[in-house]
Amino acid sequence: MAHPAVRLTAVTKSFGTAPAVRNLDLDIAQGEFFALLGPSGCGKTTTLRMLGGFTTPTSGSIHLDGVDVTNHPPNRRDVNTVFQSYALFDHLTIWDNIAFGLKRRGRPTAEIRERVGEMLDLVQLGDMATRRPRTLSGGQRQRVALARALVNRPKVLLLDEPLAALDLKLRRQMQVELKQIQREVGITFVFVTHDQDEALTMADRVAVMNGGVVEQCGAPEDVYERPASRFVASFMGTSNLMTGVYSGGTVTLDGDVRLPVAQRTDCADGSTVSLSVRPEKIWLSDFEPGMVRVTGVIRETVYSGPTTTYLIDLAPGLRVAALEQNTARARREDRWEGGEEVELGWRPQDCLVLA
Ligand SMILES: Nc1ncnc2c1ncn2[C@@H]1O[C@H](COP(=O)(O)OP(=O)(O)OP(=O)(O)O)[C@@H](O)[C@H]1O
Ligand SMILES: [Mg+2]
Repeated sequence: MAHPAVRLTAVTKSFGTAPAVRNLDLDIAQGEFFALLGPSGCGKTTTLRMLGGFTTPTSGSIHLDGVDVTNHPPNRRDVNTVFQSYALFDHLTIWDNIAFGLKRRGRPTAEIRERVGEMLDLVQLGDMATRRPRTLSGGQRQRVALARALVNRPKVLLLDEPLAALDLKLRRQMQVELKQIQREVGITFVFVTHDQDEALTMADRVAVMNGGVVEQCGAPEDVYERPASRFVASFMGTSNLMTGVYSGGTVTLDGDVRLPVAQRTDCADGSTVSLSVRPEKIWLSDFEPGMVRVTGVIRETVYSGPTTTYLIDLAPGLRVAALEQNTARARREDRWEGGEEVELGWRPQDCLVLA
């Protein structure tokens, strides 16, 4: 069987006393687009720097393609890094920026010409080859940085928030392009981001980090639809998190709101649990048989183009958000107004019990 492209075994990194990364086990497959996702300070960059060889783990080991590289310097690892600041050479043309690594390694001129040409085509900057980085837009510079790393044909490419400097529209566009490029070249990407949308859009698998620990790792849909913890549920998009007391298949919330839960749970009667229902899983009309039903009062109607979000009080201090698509069939006059009493419903399986 092929080795994983990347294997971290019980990796810990401490600065002084506080561990930035704690006892991390992770396998990343060959050709996988893997995202490390988490809030500021959770240890994403530290993990990436250990993969690149810029930082040594305090304990544990790192294997790349089956080889123990824990104590190898960066230049002895088949890995390239694209940092958030692209660090292009402004005195060189785009062509020379991309050719830099190959020239330094003394590759033959004909080969350099061919490979740089291929890269320029791949990132669609062929007509800008003779320009200087400062004359390019942020997105174009980002693609140069990517081409400069890919031209070395590393086994693994590490990317640390490479799109963070771009405005939202360009960022969305680059997310799609980067994903396409990764498919074309087939190189393993380890992509760091604190943006959950970005991770969901781009990655084959996502590891959600919190306080130096991976709380959950899986396909975007699994992590989003079935968060393993309260932290993951709240970090992955908007979630209605409610706390209540579990007893015999029902959770009692503040204001004596009782919600039956379908999910099999090993919670003891009387224990405190968190519930999570995604806003888009809440129905406000056309209920199905078997749904959990509660009543509430609309407090706020937030129109945002394709969707409308309603903030609804189920009881004093117990507020949930419900999201409706503004499809062609949805009519403006059907929108709920503040103060109106509404009925809410969700499928039992869409309400998760989080320990
Ligand atoms: N060289 C260092 N010396 C001391 N502490 C450090 C060092 N590098 C990182 N840390 C600490 O380790 C923790 C993790 O930092 P890291 O840079 O990995 O976070 P991150 O997840 O990349 O955050 P961000 O999203 O803000 O970039 C932080 O608490 C940080 O202060
Ligand atoms: Mg970082």
